[in-house]
Amino acid sequence: MLVNEVLTHLSPVSGGIYVDATVGHGGHARALLEHEPSIGRLICIDQDSDAIKRAGDALTAFSNRVTFFNQSFTQLRDILSQAGIHSIDGIVFDLGVSTGQLKDPSRGFSIYLEGPLDMRMNAGAALHAKNLIEELDTNELANTIYRYGEERFSRRIAARIKARQADINTTADLAQIVFEAIPARYHPRRIHPATKTFQALRIAVNDELQALESGLQAAFEVLRSGGRMCVISFHSLEDRIVKTMFKQWSGECVCPRDLPVCSCGCRPQVRIITRKVVQAGSAERGVNARARSAKLRVVEKI
Ligand SMILES: C[S@@+](CC[C@H](N)C(=O)[O-])C[C@H]1O[C@@H](n2cnc3c(N)ncnc32)[C@H](O)[C@@H]1O
Repeated sequence: MLVNEVLTHLSPVSGGIYVDATVGHGGHARALLEHEPSIGRLICIDQDSDAIKRAGDALTAFSNRVTFFNQSFTQLRDILSQAGIHSIDGIVFDLGVSTGQLKDPSRGFSIYLEGPLDMRMNAGAALHAKNLIEELDTNELANTIYRYGEERFSRRIAARIKARQADINTTADLAQIVFEAIPARYHPRRIHPATKTFQALRIAVNDELQALESGLQAAFEVLRSGGRMCVISFHSLEDRIVKTMFKQWSGECVCPRDLPVCSCGCRPQVRIITRKVVQAGSAERGVNARARSAKLRVVEKI
């Protein structure tokens, strides 16, 4: 996704040390290694062990320059210290789920493919979507669906899920319950009515927003002066976090508008490279539905 745009904006240098924080199938990593044959080292991270295996296969030709870590990017500092690295020349985050995860019914991410109600990116994590639904009370579940899915029918959906939770074991069961909970006249035309609920549960199961904040902060701290950070987000909740953190590092005041005196004490530590967010061109949007929501933002450390 946005591969050429990432390469242009990352502008990799010969001998540099780079991180692909979300290696997935290795698409960005491969392009980066091919585009800049003299890249010194590429650290590839993914919390999904299947992704690490797949990326390992895709990148065998570059094995002397690539090191894989099956960990969360929230542990970036620890990963780099394991690799004996103190600072990096650039990093890419391509957030969300991969096509491989979505298309594998056994991972339980897809509304359209029946599978267990799982949604864990790290299959070794304790919490999966079925536990989450059982552990939260109706009010907490409604708040989760509202906050992470921006779903206006969150209360109705949560009440319906809790009333039927013993019967909800698969993605198809959940999709059907949500379909029934939303009044038919409010069913969206282009997407499944359960899309926002699935997004919300996935974000909660993987603690994605908290992880994003920690990952970006860690990346900012290890980025060398002149180094660049590229972040591709897929929904407004992620994009808001990226935009706010970039703005804060760039020294722009992030105090609430009604605060009479600035209290955030911001000073410029990065230069924002993408004043306007970068989106996929019409060719990529035409062949890849997810590309329509992808947004790339880039900063350079001062
Ligand atoms: C959209 S895919 C990346 C695709 C990849 N850029 C490519 O070109 O093939 C996102 C990947 O990020 C991983 N991921 C999401 N959150 C993560 C985290 N906190 N730490 C590490 N990996 C994460 C997911 O497991 C998934 O494989």
